[in-house]
Amino acid sequence: MIKVAILGYGTVGSGVFEIIKENKDIINEKTDNEVEVKYVLDLRDFPGDPCENVLVHDYDVILNDPEVEVVVEVMGGLHPAYEFVKSALEAGKSACTSNKELVAKYGAELVNIAESHNRNFLFEAAVGGGIPIIRPLNMHITADAIQEIEGIMNGTTNYIMTKMAREGADFEEVLKEAQELGYAERDPSADVEGYDAVRKIAILASLATEKTVDFEKIYTEGITNITATDFKYAKAMDRSIKLIAKFKNEGDGYVASVSPRLIAKDHPLYNVNDVVNGILIKGNMVGDLVFIGSGAGKLPTASAVVSDVVDCIRHLNVSTTVIWNEEEYQLADFSQSKKKFFLRTTASKEEIEEVFGYVTYIDANVDGELGFVTAKLTEEEFSEKELAFGKTITRIRMED
Ligand code: HSE
Repeated sequence: MIKVAILGYGTVGSGVFEIIKENKDIINEKTDNEVEVKYVLDLRDFPGDPCENVLVHDYDVILNDPEVEVVVEVMGGLHPAYEFVKSALEAGKSACTSNKELVAKYGAELVNIAESHNRNFLFEAAVGGGIPIIRPLNMHITADAIQEIEGIMNGTTNYIMTKMAREGADFEEVLKEAQELGYAERDPSADVEGYDAVRKIAILASLATEKTVDFEKIYTEGITNITATDFKYAKAMDRSIKLIAKFKNEGDGYVASVSPRLIAKDHPLYNVNDVVNGILIKGNMVGDLVFIGSGAGKLPTASAVVSDVVDCIRHLNVSTTVIWNEEEYQLADFSQSKKKFFLRTTASKEEIEEVFGYVTYIDANVDGELGFVTAKLTEEEFSEKELAFGKTITRIRMED
């Protein structure tokens, strides 16, 4: 019998509890063991809920119980999640988490503590919700130099962008609807400002490089400035606008960013809609691999967490292959990254061409403004020109 403790009985925690109960036979067979949730930790009470009999309010009960082999951290936030996971690993328990904030900030340290105790710290659900992406990166795509990781890694913003594209609605309107439906948090900034996606790309980039990519050094721009009119132009270009997280070898090193991008119809991520996430990995030998699936939501996320629980139980006294060093990975300078830019402006063609030279105009039947695409420019060149120009309504990066 293997005893598990779940820290946090929110959306994902209750999903983990439900899956371990509902899929008991499958999980027991896969682990060749009997798996039981011995404790659920939460500050709240849940009268009448199936977790009631195993609910505790004091983490020390779990930490000091040698019967607990696996701790599942699904509380979210950095503290006390970090202290709880670290102490569990130091006490010789394995730990799994869906918490990307925790993994992006302390991943390398926790992986190495786990390893030194022959235990595991696993985090399949921290990126891409239910999509298997961490395990493939760690264990399967190991014969390649990874050239690029590119993805739609935030379900909430993808839901918002999809609605804007389909219904011609504005950002604020769709955000409100998403909040009413429970897709977006009351404080949506982590999602809409790109803070969630940047942690996810930093985690994947760290695993690809086996060093630590600091999410705070990645250029991050959210979707709050995208309007219904931008989608009219996108349609006219046969493109869509998606919040894209990228880590790419651009010749002089790997550049990372999170920003809205205009992506073309033949791009593998074009049809990734609603809360679905999609992640493209380019290896120098294997070529393009695309992973698509539910990027958020109770059961998909909990399913990925429970797959980690299964892995921990299969490898009770051995550390599996997560290689992640605390040494910082040096990203190349984003300001030298080259691409085309789409701009909307109230300026005349003469004024546009005086600053940007040859451009391609986009006709989207919008009165009182012009929309155009620049030639390929570095971020730095573009910023200088835009500053001199001074008449931009919006600007969005074009995706190759
Ligand atoms: N807020 C996140 C999203 C949850 O919308 O994708 C999953 O990480």
